[in-house]
Amino acid sequence: MKQGVFITFEGNDGAGKTTVCKAVEKRLSEMGYSVLYTREPGGSRIAEAIRQVLLDVENTEMDARTEALLYAASRRQHLVEVVLPALNANKIVLCDRFIDSSLAYQGYARQIGAPEIWDINQFAIDGHMPDKTLFLSVSVETGKKRMDLRGDKNRLDLEASAFHARVRKGYQTLCQDYPERITVIDAEADVQTVVDQSLQEILKVVHAYE
Ligand code: TMP
Repeated sequence: MKQGVFITFEGNDGAGKTTVCKAVEKRLSEMGYSVLYTREPGGSRIAEAIRQVLLDVENTEMDARTEALLYAASRRQHLVEVVLPALNANKIVLCDRFIDSSLAYQGYARQIGAPEIWDINQFAIDGHMPDKTLFLSVSVETGKKRMDLRGDKNRLDLEASAFHARVRKGYQTLCQDYPERITVIDAEADVQTVVDQSLQEILKVVHAYE
């Protein structure tokens, strides 16, 4: 492969992104590709420290714009320290959440506005958009059921279902706005099917670079 490929996974809490992402990483590695799985917020020492502040259930007084700026700061640090070096080493980077999470959660669900969130994130990512984004689509109810099974909840998981409904609606708007970049995967299906479909979509992009 002549250059790295940047793939992001997006979806509501409980969509199954992490499970699918890790399974896809394993399959691509078995096929002989050099792959990196990483996640946001976090993925590097400084970005993980910001993650702690963002997700701490004690931080109830956090202002919405502070939250948006911290996600963008964590994104910047992780991009520079982890994502770009891996892309420069010609790897396939599978990133569990990226800019679309900020657009859906802070832009739409917190109602700061997508253009405002886009602007602060352009400063953070400096033009480095994903080559492909997979939106794992589940209903708010399915997401909640899966989150309940997972148990341990972070500050955003604890938001009311109206918030998670706005997140989903936000993602649906993003899918309409960026139909070339974002592919919708039906994540109500069983894990194996979701993994197979995700892999197929990623391979289309990878083959285009070979
Ligand atoms: P995770 O549970 O998928 O690791 O993500 C942590 C939470 O952070 C999740 O509820 C989604 C939220 N989030 C945002 O609100 N904005 C962002 O930009 C990112 C990356 C995550």
